[in-house]
Amino acid sequence: MSEHILIGVAWPYANGSLHLGHIAGAYLPADIFARYHRLKGDKVLMVSGSDQHGTPITLRAEQEGKSPQEIVSRYHQEFLDCWQKLGISWDLFTTTSTPNHTEVTHDIFLTLLEKGYIYKDTMLQAYCPRCQRFLPDRYLVGTCPYCHFPEARGDQCDECGRTLNPNDLLDLHCRLCSDTPRFEVSEHFFLRLSAFEDRLKSWIKAQTHWRQNVANFSLGILESGLKDRAITRDIEWGIDVPQPGFERKRIYVWFEAVIGYLSASKEWAKLSGDAAAWKPFWEGESKSFYFIGKDNIPFHALIWPAMLMGYGGLNIPYDVPANEFLTVEGKQLSTSRNWAVWLPDYLQRYNPDSLRYLLSINMPETGDTDFSWREFLRRNNDELVATYGNLVHRVLTFANRNFAGVVPDPGELDSQSQELLRKAQTTLSSVDKLLYRCHFKEGIKTAMSLAQEANRYLDDKAPWKTIKQDSQAAATAIYVALSVLSALKTVLSPFLPFSSQKLHNLLGFDGKIEAVGWRLQPPLAGQKLPTPQPLFDKLDESIVAEETDRLGCEQLNES
Ligand code: MF3
Ligand code: ZN
Repeated sequence: MSEHILIGVAWPYANGSLHLGHIAGAYLPADIFARYHRLKGDKVLMVSGSDQHGTPITLRAEQEGKSPQEIVSRYHQEFLDCWQKLGISWDLFTTTSTPNHTEVTHDIFLTLLEKGYIYKDTMLQAYCPRCQRFLPDRYLVGTCPYCHFPEARGDQCDECGRTLNPNDLLDLHCRLCSDTPRFEVSEHFFLRLSAFEDRLKSWIKAQTHWRQNVANFSLGILESGLKDRAITRDIEWGIDVPQPGFERKRIYVWFEAVIGYLSASKEWAKLSGDAAAWKPFWEGESKSFYFIGKDNIPFHALIWPAMLMGYGGLNIPYDVPANEFLTVEGKQLSTSRNWAVWLPDYLQRYNPDSLRYLLSINMPETGDTDFSWREFLRRNNDELVATYGNLVHRVLTFANRNFAGVVPDPGELDSQSQELLRKAQTTLSSVDKLLYRCHFKEGIKTAMSLAQEANRYLDDKAPWKTIKQDSQAAATAIYVALSVLSALKTVLSPFLPFSSQKLHNLLGFDGKIEAVGWRLQPPLAGQKLPTPQPLFDKLDESIVAEETDRLGCEQLNES
């Protein structure tokens, strides 16, 4: 029975390049999951887009002396280019600047207002007398009232992850000049989150399939009480508030960004030619998965579900498989100190599947993990090239030289051969179960252990020796190895889409690997095998020093 799977992935702020932290945190796991479900024959809708509003954008525009629009257009283009090169297979990657998104945002706003889940009240708005301006949340720094971290921002504490209101902060000061801002009264709309506390609590407690850290973190926030939250701001850049008297205010970025999942689904449906096509992904038995980094948990496990509960008629998240963080060379990532590996740089220099491999096998699923160039080199050379690539190469070149480039006849299978074929089958079903439950790291390890097994089998069978006296024995071994390669191209394809497609063709199969489905596609005796080509390139030791030297250096100013 095929399922409808909605995959929502965090909307990246279009104010800077993507780095490996973003990829390991959200985009890669989402893409693996989408590709896996498509292979299984499920209906998948994977959406996201660039988050084009909010202070992160206006801050950047101010720093560069450009308009916010120039900034977001530049990075949106860059994102699209990166997705294509890295093989992130969106059904739609849009932006929050479309008329459709504004329309859907207004619909949700007005419906919640009508139902009493949004109400008008006054809020204290920080004004910096020295800078002579109202200060948006991110321009406010102070001490977190929960964990006492001294550098919390007006919207969220980076230390304990809690969302904050600007006037919650202690020892408040202006990020630009460090003066103490004063507060002025301003009228705003508030989301009545407090009304959903009990529903959210019992709902999350029942989600036994959620990752422990995500459930516990969310329940912890609920324990300390969910406060209503202002969802409009005194700013100019953003979506207008559909209420009289609010012409000079805008909708708060987080309120509308999460609505992007719904608006993008509707936009995709319109583009597909069937404007109602989004519905089966949001209603009935469909399941929705939200792939995000752990700093986004409150918005996806509490606020967005509350908005959906209030709106009514649409499915709330089925799972929020948030990842932890990726450090780089043992240190926390920092974009301001340029301690990051930027995706456009990576993609200019190396193979997308090498990165996808490393970040899959080292995914920060249940705790932080580290990216280092030494590890990248080792995983590429000793695992991708030596274990997997060489296996493929020696089987294919052997068939090419000794069996005239066609799949040999299997003959009779001895027990060791039958055993390995069984292992290929069980690998398909184990990886299936692991991916279904979002266990990506375990999934790729299980797949790779089949490649190791196949190497041992070939070493035992030594067809390069038997070919002289007993060519049928060599043919059997090569046939079985080709079958294992066929299983590998499938189980690895969600992780390594480029090399899997290549292997699919090198095994003599035409067309797209996706069309085959999640099964062992048996090689057919007599089928022609194209000229072998290596799947991966070995990387030179020198890249380690070269790349680590780039870290922390002042960045060249683009454009
Ligand atoms: N732009 C936000 C960030 O980079 C994430 C937004 S996720 C969304 O942290 F769902 F709200 F869009
Ligand atoms: Zn805190």
